[in-house]
Amino acid sequence: MSDIQALERQILDAIASAADEAALEAVRVSVLGKKGSVSELLKSLGGMTPDERKSNGPLFNGLRDRATAAIAARKTALEEGALNARLTFERVDISLPVRPEPVGSVHPVSQVLDEVTAIFADLGFAVAEGPDVEFDDYNFTKLNIPPDHPARQMHDTFYVAKQADGSQHVLRTHTSPVQVRTMLQQKPPIRIISPGRTYRVDSDATHSPMFHQFEGLVIDEVTHLGHLKWTLEEFCKAFFEVDKVEMRARPSFFPFTEPSVEWDLRCDRSGGQIKFGQGNDWLELAGSGMVHPRVLELCGIDSKRYQGYAFGGGIDRLAMLKYGIPDIRSFFESDLRWLRHYGFAALDLPTLDGGLSR
Ligand code: PHE
Repeated sequence: MSDIQALERQILDAIASAADEAALEAVRVSVLGKKGSVSELLKSLGGMTPDERKSNGPLFNGLRDRATAAIAARKTALEEGALNARLTFERVDISLPVRPEPVGSVHPVSQVLDEVTAIFADLGFAVAEGPDVEFDDYNFTKLNIPPDHPARQMHDTFYVAKQADGSQHVLRTHTSPVQVRTMLQQKPPIRIISPGRTYRVDSDATHSPMFHQFEGLVIDEVTHLGHLKWTLEEFCKAFFEVDKVEMRARPSFFPFTEPSVEWDLRCDRSGGQIKFGQGNDWLELAGSGMVHPRVLELCGIDSKRYQGYAFGGGIDRLAMLKYGIPDIRSFFESDLRWLRHYGFAALDLPTLDGGLSR
């Protein structure tokens, strides 16, 4: 056997017996590394006569190619072996019973978000979404709140640093920009509900810098305040799980609706517990109104042919009321004891026929 053949045998043996990826790497360095046996052979070609080079070149190169291929094949085999070993080792026995202790629960805000969505879905509303970081244009301008309009001061806005192209983004101060997004994309009739996160520079027992709203929008050829009132009434009955509610309308102002109405709900707080549909107290429920014709036009909808109504309310507030949670800040403290107390079972998705809050 020639020296070259002997060397090849030796190299292939070493590769075959490398027990893991680290050992294989050591073999690779000793063969193909800078000072490796095959690399040295290839270097020696430089000092040979043209004839020697002609006969040895193909031999050395062949050896290098076969060693490289053998190392790659061994590497794949070792990787597969390691994966198989891990899969065997990490096997999960799915026949084991689940652990008895409760492991997690649905946050009341998520629960109420699901409840609100389920109720409006039942009324035929589709769910629409928009991003938390919103164009200033959609959050304000297209909602009939131009730059320098005093109504911008109603919202204590978190501004995002200006983009390179000069455009301005904000953390959306309400879910109303989803109205804009929807109208820019869809043709009437439109009927959407959009629950989501919103942000304002504000923090106390009833305000948190991040909070949640739901937004409703209906655009059609014949819509009026009566439809709006009926929709909100149906929502309240379903949400508070009572047969009867009484709502009171207060004139209000929002730049994107005309007329604008805020709705209060009759309630009774006397027994330390809140009851709806009775009593002499009123609870603020939602802002609303008929969509301002200017907003329709800014969003590409013919305001002569179509009109519609919109409403928006706070999810966190609804959760606090329905489930008797006194401080909004506790929502976002991630206290496990709090979550165990106020959380909901993970698999009980709220539906109108199956039960909303059970
Ligand atoms: N976006 C308003 C707010 O955050 C609520 C609203 C929504 C009012 C839709 C009218 C119509 O206060």
